[in-house]
Amino acid sequence: MNWPSVLDRRPFRENSFPSKLHDEQVAAILGCALGITFTVCFATGLYSHLAQNPPSWFELPSRPAGLYRVTQGLHVATGIASIPLLAAKLWTVYPKLFSWPPFESAAHLIARISLLPLIGGGLFMLFTGLANINLWYPWQFNFPVTHYWAAWLTMGALVVHIGAKFTTTRRVLSRKVSASAVPSAVDAVDAVDRRRFLATVFGTSALLTLFTVGQTFAPLRKLALLAPRRPDVGPQGFPVNRTARTAGVVETSQASDYRLTVTGRVRNELSLGLDELRALRQHSAVLPIACVEGWSTTQRWTGVRVRDLLAMAGASPDAEVRVESLQQHRSYRTSDLNPWQAHDPDTLLALLVNGEPLALDHGYPLRLIGPNRPGVMQTKWVTRLVVQ
Ligand code: HEM
Repeated sequence: MNWPSVLDRRPFRENSFPSKLHDEQVAAILGCALGITFTVCFATGLYSHLAQNPPSWFELPSRPAGLYRVTQGLHVATGIASIPLLAAKLWTVYPKLFSWPPFESAAHLIARISLLPLIGGGLFMLFTGLANINLWYPWQFNFPVTHYWAAWLTMGALVVHIGAKFTTTRRVLSRKVSASAVPSAVDAVDAVDRRRFLATVFGTSALLTLFTVGQTFAPLRKLALLAPRRPDVGPQGFPVNRTARTAGVVETSQASDYRLTVTGRVRNELSLGLDELRALRQHSAVLPIACVEGWSTTQRWTGVRVRDLLAMAGASPDAEVRVESLQQHRSYRTSDLNPWQAHDPDTLLALLVNGEPLALDHGYPLRLIGPNRPGVMQTKWVTRLVVQ
């Protein structure tokens, strides 16, 4: 490679980096793959948003118990798999980004303008998502909110892009990629190079997935070498996101006068100490903790059914419940149970995990655990149920 000519080359020109890979068909194939992965990310992301911010028309079901684990695991795995695809796509279309004149018609202008939110949004989504799951937050903004709205912008631009490129895509995809169809030897070599490039890109995506998806999918756990979190590492064998110290509950959660109160729209308010809670009928359930970051782990929880407590307090069967933690500040100190969840037989206020009292960082003395809930909504250090 003649480096002086590369170094003095102006990078933002149509002919800056000539390559056989700047090919419409390669671009179309990568575009289709990205269209699929971004749509999967968007749909699973929307579900995560609805689960945490349910509008009046949406009630998060409590079954299947592992649904959120699958959707958020898929969200993060598909997002990670998109990274090599987007990098390769941008390389493939690089010259087109600087073609001159910039547009030939009004429709072409719109298609060009939509590339800004599409490329900017795509890079932003993948970067913020990846940084977030690696617990790196080099920004001042609220991640879920910004990631959410940037997703709408990106998907809007993607729809415009698909519309603008539909005819071209259909034409080039119907063209054969194989070496035997091309008239000359040079073209044959180019076609082989393009196929090798695509194989490398998809192969990289597949390997990235293989070495990360074990954080969600237990049979591949041993291969999760690139996963940001090991779901089998932490106190009592699984991870902690927020510690008791960070939540400011080290003293209050171990106080001898700790009590759980059940209040709000009830016939009789309850106030129960730890011994009284342990004396109530205990129920065990094998349930996942599924983090919004995509990792998840299944444990055996034992404690009191929320529905038993609601029955003791004389709450109505369609009651909704706000679950409050000893944590006084910061996000996720409360969560809501809709009637399905509140009355699910496996929605517990757990005292034990795998037969042991909860560790402090896992929410000692009492934590909420229910089926099909994002990890941030499995409230720890529970002190109050407010029936609404
Ligand atoms: C490497 C890629 C990605 C990673 C690691 C990632 C990670 C995450 C995480 C951790 C959340 C949960 C936020 C929270 O509740 O605290 C989330 C939510 C979400 N993601 Fe992604 N994401 C990625 C790519 C994408 C893409 C490409 C899209 C769509 C185009 C997308 C759309 C969403 C949406 C709509 C939400 C819901 C936000 C909310 O709860 O309000 N994500 N993502």
